[in-house]
Amino acid sequence: MAYENIRSDFSNGITTITINRPSKLNALNKATIEELHHALDDANQSKETKVIIVTGSGEKAFVAGADISEFADFNVEEGGRLAAKGQELLFDFVENLSTPVIAAVNGFALGGGLELAMACHFRLASSNAKMGLPEVSLGVIPGYGGTQRLPQLVGKGRAMEMVMTAGMIDANQALNYGLVNHVVETDELLPLAEKIASKIMRNSSVAIAEAISAVNANYKDGVDGYQTEIEAFGNCFGTEDFKEGTTAFLEKRKADFPGR
Ligand code: COA
Repeated sequence: MAYENIRSDFSNGITTITINRPSKLNALNKATIEELHHALDDANQSKETKVIIVTGSGEKAFVAGADISEFADFNVEEGGRLAAKGQELLFDFVENLSTPVIAAVNGFALGGGLELAMACHFRLASSNAKMGLPEVSLGVIPGYGGTQRLPQLVGKGRAMEMVMTAGMIDANQALNYGLVNHVVETDELLPLAEKIASKIMRNSSVAIAEAISAVNANYKDGVDGYQTEIEAFGNCFGTEDFKEGTTAFLEKRKADFPGR
């Protein structure tokens, strides 16, 4: 599929998806959300892609939010549908992918931009990054999971303050809050993401997929995460990766995982 609003580049086991509407600070319009869904789905299904990196084009923004011009005249039903569709196509979707997804936050990550970064499995930021959920300054609330994922990541009190003030925090404060795992200079951001990706790729992709679903189970209503973990743990024993990983350890060599 030819994309108009994003780029998807594959190299050395990594698919890097770049949101590419720099003149609108990479704001997420409907078409961009659909393209992201398609590109993420493709990368997740590809046997070659071991890690996905999501970033924004240019040095100014990761994503400056949902595209305000698209929903400014929506009514109650349309507003509800916008949030539900977005969560289904992108935010819940990315969180539940079996391939690890790293957000490389390279500038403003506001509203839907921060919500996208938070739906990724973990986040790195460049030192110029600014993050916030400014929705209440527009008379609306975060609708792409922000009210749920922000307190999970930074704690309820900090999340409440960020949501109520609609303010932005800088990269170091985001690091201090645990919202991002690492902060580096802009030109080091993608190299760091790729370095972490290469560490991930040395491990069993089927075990990683089981681990993602077990960790996510902790945040799902009505799901017993411990039980999910027990089942996921058991599943690993039926994989070729498990045989290879344990055999390689006993033979004192590096494992060469087939990813099955
Ligand atoms: N939706 C639609 N367009 C957006 C956008 C968004 N969320 N964020 C930025 N843009 C557009 C601007 O309208 C402008 O387009 P134009 O040149 O056609 O007028 C362009 O991107 C550049 O933005 P601009 O505001 O001129 O840049 P700035 O450096 O002065 O300010 C921000 C940067 C991020 C502080 C400012 O763009 C902003 O506050 N954006 C909205 C953030 C927000 O509320 N997001 C949550 C949405 S629910």
